[in-house]
Amino acid sequence: MKKIRKAVLPVAGFGTRVLPATKSIPKEMLPVVDRPALQYVVDEALEAGIEHIVFVTGRNKGAIEDYFDRAYELEATLHLKNKTALLKELEAKLPAPGSTSFVRQQSPQGLGHAVWCARDVIGDEPFAVLLPDVLVKSTPGCLAQMIAAYEKKGGNIIAVDPVPKDQTDKYGVIAPKSQDGNIYEMSAMIEKPKPSEAPSNLAITGRYILQPEIFKFLEEQEPGAGNEIQLTDAMAKLMKTSPFFALAFDGTPYDCGSKFGYFKAVCAYAMDHGEIGNEARALIKTLSQND
Ligand code: G1P
Repeated sequence: MKKIRKAVLPVAGFGTRVLPATKSIPKEMLPVVDRPALQYVVDEALEAGIEHIVFVTGRNKGAIEDYFDRAYELEATLHLKNKTALLKELEAKLPAPGSTSFVRQQSPQGLGHAVWCARDVIGDEPFAVLLPDVLVKSTPGCLAQMIAAYEKKGGNIIAVDPVPKDQTDKYGVIAPKSQDGNIYEMSAMIEKPKPSEAPSNLAITGRYILQPEIFKFLEEQEPGAGNEIQLTDAMAKLMKTSPFFALAFDGTPYDCGSKFGYFKAVCAYAMDHGEIGNEARALIKTLSQND
């Protein structure tokens, strides 16, 4: 079984659901307490043993590339002011040289197309995909849980989580066929089904382990829901020829691509934060009492 070494992070989206904040800042760079949302997802990938991250970027996403590089003027200033702890933190967050790639999705043709743009960098090995809109709060991280499942089962694995039945049209949804503990086998997966047509309320959470054969299906994939090339549609085809599992992971997902999901993530991460956690919890309690 080949190790999962590389992860694709699609970061080309416009972030229209959180405009105007995202007019000049990539949505992935919006802070959740003291770091960009994207940092949590990169940390989740690294914790799971990922060695190389492929960012699929687009226009106006230069801040992401700069964030994962050295900032010489800033570092020199911190050094002069003896801010050693901050300097150490910046150093610790710097990816190892050569461990990131940036490929460009020139036009927004959908998630499937974004993943396909990474094909040359991924090559012929299984890989992970993490959607940075979704922060998953869990210990161990969601991708680490998926890799543990992959080491038992092999094949392809997606993370799933129950959603309210009236919200299935926001997600990819699976039709479970059988269940072994927290791992499902599926008979189908459908992108953004109407609640009346959804085969279950188990939604795809934005974490995937895929075999490289997916690229062949993505290459031929016609546009689907929203007139976009959907990863879910290509996975539904791959599922017919390659083992495919869904993991009901342990943890809470936050959709930072939506205003309320982002707000919930900020609250949840603030309440658990080493420096401001106690104050954040007290504040949230007071605010809810005054309501
Ligand atoms: C994407 C996927 C969908 C998945 C969702 C998770 O949709 O296409 O299957 O359930 O992410 O957030 P998007 O949110 O990009 O429309």
